[in-house]
Amino acid sequence: MAKIVSSGIDDGVRRLEKGEVVGFPTETVYGLAGSILSEVGIRKIFSTKKRPFFDPLIVHVSSKKMAEQLTTDWNPLADFLAEHFWPGPLTLVLPKSDLVSDLITSGLQTVGIRMPKHTLALSLIDRLGSALAAPSANRFGKTSPTSAQHVAFEFPDDDFLIFDGGPCEVGLESTVLSIKRIADNYELSILRAGHVTKSDLEKATAYLKFKIKFVETLDRRESPGQMKHHYMPQKPLVLVRNSNLSENQILEMVRAKIKDLPDEVEQVQIVKPTQIVKISEMKLPESAELAARSLYSELRNLANLQSDLIYFRLKPEFEKENWQATIDRLTKAASLILD
Ligand code: TXA
Ligand code: MG
Repeated sequence: MAKIVSSGIDDGVRRLEKGEVVGFPTETVYGLAGSILSEVGIRKIFSTKKRPFFDPLIVHVSSKKMAEQLTTDWNPLADFLAEHFWPGPLTLVLPKSDLVSDLITSGLQTVGIRMPKHTLALSLIDRLGSALAAPSANRFGKTSPTSAQHVAFEFPDDDFLIFDGGPCEVGLESTVLSIKRIADNYELSILRAGHVTKSDLEKATAYLKFKIKFVETLDRRESPGQMKHHYMPQKPLVLVRNSNLSENQILEMVRAKIKDLPDEVEQVQIVKPTQIVKISEMKLPESAELAARSLYSELRNLANLQSDLIYFRLKPEFEKENWQATIDRLTKAASLILD
């Protein structure tokens, strides 16, 4: 059984040095960390999560200097964005240096780097003296954890330390931003939506001298780990677009469609109900920020109830940019979407 603690950074550091994994808080979600210097530790992250090796890990730093050593191109734009958004929920994807193994990047020549905004995370990295590779601390394809208790619940049979840093402030994973430099021009591409939006990035960089272009990356090889399904709760989630549908109609439509669902998509198991008797509606706060903060814990709470299915009604205002990350996670977590 994993052990929740709220102190003992030195013990955490010793364990990481020995090649163990450690659960730790960040402002986005809880991570399952291994030292980037320990191949044993990195392999343990993948085996604990049952994560396929094609899905690269984000590397967490406690200083800009540490970040510079992880890439061969710490360019002026990366430096500016780090200065502006770090510590915070923005991951910068840059060419990797030799310090970062192929195991961490799934064979890619780039590495995702971020500085988390949580004192516990920062002191763990600082005291270890090297960066931590860490995915979200959930089993592969499942709902991400936003509390230490969620992490313990995900891994009942594993024995590692989980540092309790309270509930996560942001509640959704970081924005993943690829930075490509061509001479003094930059191509930016958001590979995963998060709390930091395109507008935030445009606003921050508006007065910079260099030329910045936002592009859409359609090449899946540059953005692995962006599966169609992810974050799945233990009970099936159904998104409902048509606001006229009653609960009974939803139930009927799900019953009719459920048998056509595949068992698995891109190695992620699709959650299906064995029977549908009781269903629960998920409600999220009106504010996009509060909705993001409570999404994963709401999904977990409802999945633990006696209901066989969770449904959530989509509204037109969710088209707004500040809802984008929440809707992205909901869409991937859903077994079915009813139009
Ligand atoms: O907020 C977060 O980012 C959290 C906390 C723990 O920091 N971490 C997290 O890690 O969400 P994870 O493993 O659940 O998601 C990492 C994703 C990968 O699936 C992939 O989509 C992207 O980040 N990624 C990582 N390295 C990449 C790279 N070199 N190129 C492109 N995408 C990368
Ligand atoms: Mg994850």
